Amino acid sequence: MISDYLAFFVELPSSFKDIGSVIPSSRFLVNELVKAMPEKKEPIRILEAGAGTGVLTKKVIDLIQKDDEFHVYEINEKFSKHLEKLLGDLNGKASNVKLFNSDIRELKVEENEKYDVIFCGLPFMNFPPELVDEILEMLIKSLKEGGTLAYFGYLALPKIRQLYVNDKEKKRIKDVLAVLDKYKAKAKNSRRQRVYLNIPPAHGTFLEL
Ligand SMILES: C[S@@+](CC[C@H](N)C(=O)[O-])C[C@H]1O[C@@H](n2cnc3c(N)ncnc32)[C@H](O)[C@@H]1O
Repeated sequence: MISDYLAFFVELPSSFKDIGSVIPSSRFLVNELVKAMPEKKEPIRILEAGAGTGVLTKKVIDLIQKDDEFHVYEINEKFSKHLEKLLGDLNGKASNVKLFNSDIRELKVEENEKYDVIFCGLPFMNFPPELVDEILEMLIKSLKEGGTLAYFGYLALPKIRQLYVNDKEKKRIKDVLAVLDKYKAKAKNSRRQRVYLNIPPAHGTFLEL
């Protein structure tokens, strides 16, 4: 746990735009997000985009069965090494987990490889709206019908940021929020759950296809 925080702090100065948070998600937020896992008897396929130091990854590994498949994408090389060690330390318990030290945009999914659940930890509010659109479109296309995309964001932060940034940045934030709303509107169901016990307080958002 301490090593998770250390790995985060060390990477922050060089990669803040990609990381988008000062510490890993709390267990309260993680526990909320994993409610997206279906209660199913048949094997399921799960994807995580932006695993960081693996707080959610560990929880998902605790919940999956041996026939399930879990793919984990992390762009940052140091975090990927940290994740590789974490998976190795699980002594075979993670044999159905595949780690990709890669941009999530490298993901290629055939029709029969779509996922039941996709967890997305990417810091959308730091990205240009076009990138958020590209990634969300790709993730939604990679979900099975009836599947769930779960992602998180920080409560009130986008509004607070808009108070002290320049006009260009204000527009970027507004446009990112509009892209997120567009995908919420496209989903069969969308719901948002607040989680105050996180730094900063967050929401889990769930889009069901
Ligand atoms: C806010 S952190 C979330 C980490 C972890 N899921 C958590 O909840 O604590 C975002 C993570 O997304 C990764 N990331 C950013 N852009 C990415 C991309 N295009 N593809 C894959 N991972 C990416 C960052 O390196 C970082 O580890």
